[in-house]
Amino acid sequence: MSEKIVSLEDIVSLAKRRGFVFGSSEIYGGYAGVYDYGPYGVELANNLKNAWWKYMVQQRQDIVGLDSGIFMHPEIWKASGHVGGFSDPLAECNNCHTRIRADHTLEELGEQADEKMSTEQLNNLFDKHRTEIKCPNCGKKEFGEVKNFNLLVKSNLGNFSDDMDDNPVYLRGETCQGIYVNFPNVVDSSRVKVPFGIAQIGKAFRNEISPRQFIFRTREFEQMEMQYFTNPETELEEFEKLRQYRWNFYKTIGIREENMQWHKHENLVFYAKEAYDIEYKYPFGFKELEGVHARGDYDLGAHQKGSGKDLTYFDPTGNTRYLPHVIESSVGLNRMFLAVLSDAYTVETLANGESRTVLKLHPSLAPIKFAVSPLLRNKPELVAKAHEVYDMLSKNYMCEFDDNGNIGKRYRRQDEIGTPKCITIDFQTLEDGTVTVRDRDTTEQTRTKIENIAG
Ligand code: GAP
Repeated sequence: MSEKIVSLEDIVSLAKRRGFVFGSSEIYGGYAGVYDYGPYGVELANNLKNAWWKYMVQQRQDIVGLDSGIFMHPEIWKASGHVGGFSDPLAECNNCHTRIRADHTLEELGEQADEKMSTEQLNNLFDKHRTEIKCPNCGKKEFGEVKNFNLLVKSNLGNFSDDMDDNPVYLRGETCQGIYVNFPNVVDSSRVKVPFGIAQIGKAFRNEISPRQFIFRTREFEQMEMQYFTNPETELEEFEKLRQYRWNFYKTIGIREENMQWHKHENLVFYAKEAYDIEYKYPFGFKELEGVHARGDYDLGAHQKGSGKDLTYFDPTGNTRYLPHVIESSVGLNRMFLAVLSDAYTVETLANGESRTVLKLHPSLAPIKFAVSPLLRNKPELVAKAHEVYDMLSKNYMCEFDDNGNIGKRYRRQDEIGTPKCITIDFQTLEDGTVTVRDRDTTEQTRTKIENIAG
């Protein structure tokens, strides 16, 4: 059995064909930077969120959950520094006004366009390559200077003026600000003691100028973030523990370790103590999957200043009062989704020369756990028994009743969506209560008693 290297096109095609991911607003010609998750996609996404929540909240005595609003007081985004400094460097084509990410373009030309570079440094690098940089829309080489473009998405919620720029509110650019501003509420209302964490899953919005690489970089996405509040003296110790803990998470969901690597940030923002990314080997190369950062007291300090409220914490263990330091773990659900699909997508050439595409998803992530089929769809007694088995299993598992096509075709379809087990009800089932269980990875078939199907 041999395996083929996977391209992004293979994954996009399977995602669309099998109902995992659709481009947004397709019948209206599409809408850039937003994707819709289809019947299997929503199952996979929910399974990923559940796996993250279980690992980050359920199995931890020191982490609690939160679900804060997408809209917040606009002062929050000023205090956090987002209104002033949350931007991407862009250059605009003087001919057709298409905007490009200057840093991405320079990276494609082999330059190290670091995210912490000043606009002046980027402009110097951009000037060096000016004669090579073609507009992706009109083909002209006439870009203006590199300028910063703010990523926050504005809204007029609760604002009845005609001018959107008159006191705008923002759709959150990251979920963690809702965590910081709820720090005192959680301390006052629950039994948490520093060090402890607050976890949240929710939508975030960014005006990305060049959404790209399928669901890797989008304008609307879901983040899974955990902010851990520490005593300043133990921040780095806790950081190392969190780094290891997050790495291990990916092993629990079956991602192959050889496809992951750490990237250490060398040029840190002034308040950060340490910053690392977990990178995954996507079909377009190693890219950031998740950030693990030690952020010092920047976040609580910024909101203490912005709100005028005391956010210090009284630590009964040492009878001291301090502003906790934050370490965070932050990952985009869609980046995790794409990593999981890339890792699982396998094309095998079987011993008989045929090839099959199979998503070797960790069983806990598979959208459908059991496909249940009658051997023949025109035999009412087999169909009735298959419905009975479906009803039994679907109380606890996501199942699919599949009586389309012949058995071989059903297996191919279920392999492509990663269903771990296919159950077939045949005439023997009616006699002795056993069914055929076909395993996705080995393709082996065994006979099992109905009551033992789920193990
Ligand atoms: N609270 C920290 C924060 O938001 P970030 O590095 O900007 O830091 C964290 O984002 C994670 O969110 C990234 O590692 C990535 O997984 C995800 N993410 C950020 N921008 C994204 C986008 N436009 N599309 C999809 N995921 C994104």
